[in-house]
Amino acid sequence: ESAALWGGRFAGGPADALAALSKSTQFDWRLAPYDIAGSKAHAKVLHRAGLLTDDDLSAMLAGLDGLLDDVLGGTFLPAEDDEDVHTALERGLLERLGAELGGRLRAGRSRNDQVATLFKGYLREHGRIISRLVLDQVNTLAEQAEKHLGVAMPGRTHLQHAQPVLLSHHLLAHAWPLIRDLDRLADWDARVAADSPYGSGALAGSSLGLDPQYVALELGFTDSSANSIDGTAARDFVAEFAFVTAQVGVDLSRQAEEVIIWATKEFGFVELDDAFSTGSSIMPQKKNPDIAELARGKAGRLIGNLSGLLATLKAQPLAYNRDLQEDKEPVFDSIDTLEVLLPAFTGMVRTLRFNTTRLEELAPQGFSLATDIAEWLVRQKVPFRVAHEVAGACVQECEKRRIELWDLSDSDLAAISPELTPQVRSVLTVEGSLASRNTRGGTAGDRVAEQLTELRARAATH
Ligand code: ARG
Repeated sequence: ESAALWGGRFAGGPADALAALSKSTQFDWRLAPYDIAGSKAHAKVLHRAGLLTDDDLSAMLAGLDGLLDDVLGGTFLPAEDDEDVHTALERGLLERLGAELGGRLRAGRSRNDQVATLFKGYLREHGRIISRLVLDQVNTLAEQAEKHLGVAMPGRTHLQHAQPVLLSHHLLAHAWPLIRDLDRLADWDARVAADSPYGSGALAGSSLGLDPQYVALELGFTDSSANSIDGTAARDFVAEFAFVTAQVGVDLSRQAEEVIIWATKEFGFVELDDAFSTGSSIMPQKKNPDIAELARGKAGRLIGNLSGLLATLKAQPLAYNRDLQEDKEPVFDSIDTLEVLLPAFTGMVRTLRFNTTRLEELAPQGFSLATDIAEWLVRQKVPFRVAHEVAGACVQECEKRRIELWDLSDSDLAAISPELTPQVRSVLTVEGSLASRNTRGGTAGDRVAEQLTELRARAATH
């Protein structure tokens, strides 16, 4: 006799090829503890509806607890012909309680409402784990920023020198996107919490008087699904979760790319710690930023998981279709990927050593103080269009003579424009430039210190 949950109307068992295609225990077994939690809550509503006696309920809960112990201990495993995690666990319960009592649990529920609920439970737990790991990375960036308050570096646009900024300001610019990812995970969690599908049945709800809100609260949700068809067929919660993981991957990949560039001989901005870099099997001198490269590579994988999932969901008619079984592997992979990537990445950034002398030395190079000349002229009431021209002429003169802006003499300056009095030199230093950008969010030292406090307060809400 087949272990399938649906044998009644069939004359024979499924073809081997179908069973092989249909089987999902190789990936959905990780949902087993959540399925058992759902079963316990379901047993309680069956009891409340008068469909299990007090003794039945106690035996059922004890049986489920025993099954959970065996699942966690690895002594109960899915069998070769168990179709999915639900089938395997029902078999386990029947083995423990006998067919009479064990066979009562399935009343009023379907694998469709079961799987949607327990998948939410699993994702919520891993959302919390990923949040903690992302928070570690935020705090690591904040620590590095605090350690280097006051260190200037070349700020870039188009990867070209643009204006000097504080290294701390730059590091915190990588922390804010991660704060928003944490916000996204929290928003997502609240939305999912209010939508427990258990009790939706296959699609239409249950005739047995089972209370879905009771089950929802038992399972740590705040409410049950408002629509049983939606509850069983919607997977936007999976896609949204996959989006956040992809966005975290993209955010890390931007940090990764900078670490890779900064660690080159040509940049020489950072040195990686030995414990967080790798060597070459042939070139004895090599020290490679493999963690950063893997982060960059895995971002592609995380994006792929999201794209694949959306393609699976597109144009599926209501309600449940078996296509939906394809919702799990991509997001499981995204979770596994981030849970292994984030600790390594955080370690790499925590142990990064900055070559502050080189950063400071390069900060004013590439005529990065030209904007300061233009803005100084504007403060002398020169129209910006003219000021931009004058500052540009200074750059041109310096390029011609292969000197820096601060090398221009008083008479050089006056020859370029009568507005360029010697007082302009006050902004021709990195310190002057940085200090002048003192509006909220700007790179002046006081503002960056405030920003660090603000970031830490935001981080503390997660
Ligand atoms: N294993 C399925 C899934 O992951 C749930 C089973 C629903 N099967 C069904 N024939 N209704 O979505």
